[in-house]
Amino acid sequence: MKLHLKGRVAKLLIKNGNAVFPDGVKKCDILLQNGKIANIADCIDDDCYTIDASGKHIFPGLIDMHVHLREPGFEGKEDIESGSKAAVAGGFTQVCCMPNTNPVCDNAVVVTYIKHRADEVNLCKINPIGSITRGEKGEELSDIGKMANAGAVALSDDGKSVMDSKIMCLAMQYANDFGIKCLAHCEDAKLVDGGLVNEGKNSALTGLKGSVRAVEDIMIAREICLSESLSIPVHICHVSTYSGVQLIREAKARGVQVTAETCPHYFSLTDDIITSFDTNTKVNPPIREEIDRQAVIEGLKDGTLDCIVTDHAPHSVKDKQVEYALAAFGISGIETSFALSYTNLVKTGILTLPELADRMSAAPARILNLEGGEIASGAAADLTIADLEEKYVIDSSQFLSKGKNTPFNGSEVYGKIAYTIVDGEVKYKNV
Ligand code: DOR
Repeated sequence: MKLHLKGRVAKLLIKNGNAVFPDGVKKCDILLQNGKIANIADCIDDDCYTIDASGKHIFPGLIDMHVHLREPGFEGKEDIESGSKAAVAGGFTQVCCMPNTNPVCDNAVVVTYIKHRADEVNLCKINPIGSITRGEKGEELSDIGKMANAGAVALSDDGKSVMDSKIMCLAMQYANDFGIKCLAHCEDAKLVDGGLVNEGKNSALTGLKGSVRAVEDIMIAREICLSESLSIPVHICHVSTYSGVQLIREAKARGVQVTAETCPHYFSLTDDIITSFDTNTKVNPPIREEIDRQAVIEGLKDGTLDCIVTDHAPHSVKDKQVEYALAAFGISGIETSFALSYTNLVKTGILTLPELADRMSAAPARILNLEGGEIASGAAADLTIADLEEKYVIDSSQFLSKGKNTPFNGSEVYGKIAYTIVDGEVKYKNV
């Protein structure tokens, strides 16, 4: 039975689970007290509320540093409450939400509003991301300092690139002055020229307008150049091309402070799927070819791509039930990310469980300087308990997100979220 729980318990004991630590998986008991991990030991006895985690795996609470919660302004697609319910059902204890709302999150008032709504809903931790430019128009900088002081954890014009290099350069400098980073959506606005899908055999077959890899790669290269010349960190959003992975790998090798993310659809699918004309396959950047999928997997394995995010982009039925060219870009991904990552990366022998925990929890915490990301005494009691043996079929009609738009409906996966625990409180239970 799926439950969202909000009751506060001072103490919680998790017994007999297999905890995923950076150096391996270890069976242990974990005591949570007053929102922190109080003790980790082979055997802890306490007559407080106890979860029997026998046969299950305990991960540091999953963190998704790239989601769209749509509130304020697009509550028909998602709102902070439905997005939070979906997040904890997906095993996420913490998310960072992109600013392409209405109004755009380009000032301290919207940042404060989002944090206030997150407190009211009180399920997962929600960190607002402020926009780089006012209204995401790419013309003048947003109130960077005020947003950072109000709690914005990063800046992004996600959905578009900041095409003016001078503005991006200034944004990276101001962001850095306030201890936050720019997260770069990489898409050359002119070169994309209305492209809908990856340019290649399948765009030719379907007649859908293609978008070449260079649309993404040119902007990845520009962000790397800025980061390198300024000696300021930058983070590359949703990498989808083999050539983009290579640009980042080479930049990292010469010491550029670049980090990067990718999403489950880029390591699970190829653009063969667009021949169905299913608009749930329409996403930006587009799903590409096998050479790209393999490079994304290799990038996640060798750490070129630091983390897995969902780019959770919920849309309403009317935004998707139209012809391909008119459909909105985006995949509702927060409830399928863990199972797709476990099934396609761990079960296939590509990543170990500690590597999965790193890519889905520790790495985003490191990149954005967030609490969590570890199972350690004294750390925040944010934990995700999963049953890795449990096989199930993804059924989007059961999503708690308002967005049912997924190309993975009907896919068989392993890895069911059993409990999501935030600050020591069980926020989701499905056992
Ligand atoms: O497919 C996408 N949808 N990519 C983005 O960058 C934005 C997102 C959205 O907001 O729907």
